[in-house]
Amino acid sequence: MKVAVVTGSAKGLGRAIALTLADEGYTLVIHYKSSKEEAQKVLDLISKKSPKSIVVCGDLRREDEVSKIFSEVLKKLGRVDLLVNNVGDFLYKKFSETTTSEFRNLIESNLYSTLYVTRAVLPVMRKQKGGNVINLGAVGAERIQLTQKSAAYFLAKTGVYTLTKVMAHEEAKSGIRINMISPASLETDIFKPDDFPMGRCVTYEDVVKALKFLISPDATYINGANIEVAGGFIPGMS
Ligand SMILES: NC(=O)c1ccc[n+]([C@@H]2O[C@H](COP(=O)([O-])OP(=O)(O)OC[C@H]3O[C@@H](n4cnc5c(N)ncnc54)[C@H](OP(=O)(O)O)[C@@H]3O)[C@@H](O)[C@H]2O)c1
Repeated sequence: MKVAVVTGSAKGLGRAIALTLADEGYTLVIHYKSSKEEAQKVLDLISKKSPKSIVVCGDLRREDEVSKIFSEVLKKLGRVDLLVNNVGDFLYKKFSETTTSEFRNLIESNLYSTLYVTRAVLPVMRKQKGGNVINLGAVGAERIQLTQKSAAYFLAKTGVYTLTKVMAHEEAKSGIRINMISPASLETDIFKPDDFPMGRCVTYEDVVKALKFLISPDATYINGANIEVAGGFIPGMS
């Protein structure tokens, strides 16, 4: 049995990743914070392909909740082969209008969640002498981004990039690979297809293809990498 944990997999990109991983033969840990019904629906959808999959719940900004989640995961499934750190809130607001609590949430939901969850799985991956961690970044996260309306978000995602690199370097000897996928924006109220060099927004499928590569036998020497799935988009350039 190979086990994959996808954080924030009741909806959005996390859900798309979880459904793909069930097709790839993984037993899934579906995680949610408030979207209980949606998480159950994902579990129902994969129940035939992936009958041992489970749902877990918790706020990943809290290290105690993360510890509880992984005690449950290890008790029920005994191993973790793949962790996808997908959780991370976004806010499009000028810095002067961003409250302290919003700023803290952006840093904690993107950066601290990645830190806590990765730390929680590393001991079992070390014992297994292998594992894969994939962190979700955002296009441009490997450079300092001075954006007018998403400063705290990019501060956090650049932090995720640093964690990816440093952890990959430290854990390589245990056979654990840690990489990052940095998409451009999916279609939202903020960005439209014409804002992108290729005339379209990134899709879940584009991101999932990069993820499938990173977990494939073709990527066994890819470690500490950041794959931008952004169609040539560079923040700040039109
Ligand atoms: N969407 C984009 O255009 C885009 C572009 C570039 C990068 N990304 C990155 O890709 C990832 C997924 O994006 P998305 O738009 O699909 O995400 P999303 O819908 O905003 O969030 C995914 C899930 O994260 C969970 N979540 C939020 N805060 C949490 C917390 N403190 N603890 C536990 N769970 C929490 C929520 O679960 P519940 O619903 O259960 O509360 C939510 O459903 C993010 O890291 C994002 O930064 C997205």
